[in-house]
Amino acid sequence: MITRRQFLATIGYTTLAGFASATYAAVIEPGFRLNTVTYKFTPPRWTPGLKLRAVLLADPHLVEPHMPVRRWQRIIETANALQPDMHLLLGDYVTAHPFRTAKVPVAQAANAAKALTSPLGTFAICGNHDWWDDLTAQKRGYGPTVAQKAFEDAGIPVMENRAIQLKKDGMPFWLSGTGSMIAIHNHHWTSFESRADIQSTMAMINDDAPIIHMAHEPDLFPEIPDRVSLTLSGHTHGGQVRLFGYSFITPSSYGNRFAYGHVVENGKHLIVSGGLGCSIIPIRFGMPPEIVVLELG
Ligand SMILES: [Fe+2]
Repeated sequence: MITRRQFLATIGYTTLAGFASATYAAVIEPGFRLNTVTYKFTPPRWTPGLKLRAVLLADPHLVEPHMPVRRWQRIIETANALQPDMHLLLGDYVTAHPFRTAKVPVAQAANAAKALTSPLGTFAICGNHDWWDDLTAQKRGYGPTVAQKAFEDAGIPVMENRAIQLKKDGMPFWLSGTGSMIAIHNHHWTSFESRADIQSTMAMINDDAPIIHMAHEPDLFPEIPDRVSLTLSGHTHGGQVRLFGYSFITPSSYGNRFAYGHVVENGKHLIVSGGLGCSIIPIRFGMPPEIVVLELG
């Protein structure tokens, strides 16, 4: 039989453990941790001998106090230290969750990203939050968004439904990107319009070189043609709370299927980054902020 002292001690320890877990999930994991996750493989339809190293930064969601510009700058320093051939930015540079003390204008995120340096350069796409944050673009129903213009002003090409050819060691490959699938929302936030145009983007590709495609939301993956060697996404944040390989809440019509990591389906490859920041609630547990390194070929 448990004594009164044992009972009180159990309550005390349970409360302490709950408080410690809550502090970890609300402060330490989202605010102070940074993992580097590496995927090393040869995608399908890849050029023999083409070795490509890319660093992906997804969903920084700059906002005070959780992701101030100075923290984004430290992440950028880490991304440079990884010495990739190119840096790829996968969207959602801002957020406006109710737990903020101040917003960070997207121009500050873009200006800081100028410090990214690599031989092939930095390329970006925009995420749904970049669209939602631009009330003028929402009203008129099309871009370019303030975010797109900010990155372009910073000298960083934004791959909004476009493709370009790059070369590594003289070997060509295509880098393409599409707009957000939930770019425009109605007044009640009950329906969304896509600005992802995969057909016209693929129509820009005029040879057999491998394609790396950036799509903010992984839900576009089923629509990506087999011709694409690798699709790169963010958006889900790995569910922000992920335990035993399962994300409990995922902003995806496919639930856990595209929530996180390296997905291979019917010979097609998708990498979903767990991202860096938080959008709705500033909590992460079992899904620390991450930089993704790709070693392809
Ligand atoms: Fe997103």
